[in-house]
Amino acid sequence: MTGKPVTPAQRRALVSRARAVRARAHAPYSKFQVGAAVLDDKGRIHAGTNVENASYGLTVCAERHAVAAAVAAGAKKVRAVAVITPTSPPGSPCGACRQVLSEFAAPDALVLLASPTGVPEETSMGALLPRSFKL
Ligand code: THU
Repeated sequence: MTGKPVTPAQRRALVSRARAVRARAHAPYSKFQVGAAVLDDKGRIHAGTNVENASYGLTVCAERHAVAAAVAAGAKKVRAVAVITPTSPPGSPCGACRQVLSEFAAPDALVLLASPTGVPEETSMGALLPRSFKL
């Protein structure tokens, strides 16, 4: 581990924030509500949800909105991510979101994937996106 371990309380808080924000998804086209939350380097949690558009390609995923909220709040790093999808087993971030997350999250950053009620699955940023693009 390069970073501080994420505590069980932080894991629970992250999943709970991602579950809560999911209710605010703007997903009238797909009806697929996604909630995401990221834990930053100061221990703060930032949430985001998917925002769809009538011009479908303009849709932005929950994960990228959570990253944008973190950056807007001054976060420099993401230590952990939780993503909640309506499916069981839970879905995992799309390729675009993996790349955006990898800009802020180290390969050993914790990723929690969960359905609205189930026990979260644990993985890592490096497992989701090995050899991410970097400049
Ligand atoms: N979606 C996310 O929010 N995150 C992902 O990683 C994949 C997909 C959203 C986009 C769209 O609003 C809906 O899920 C169906 O694709």
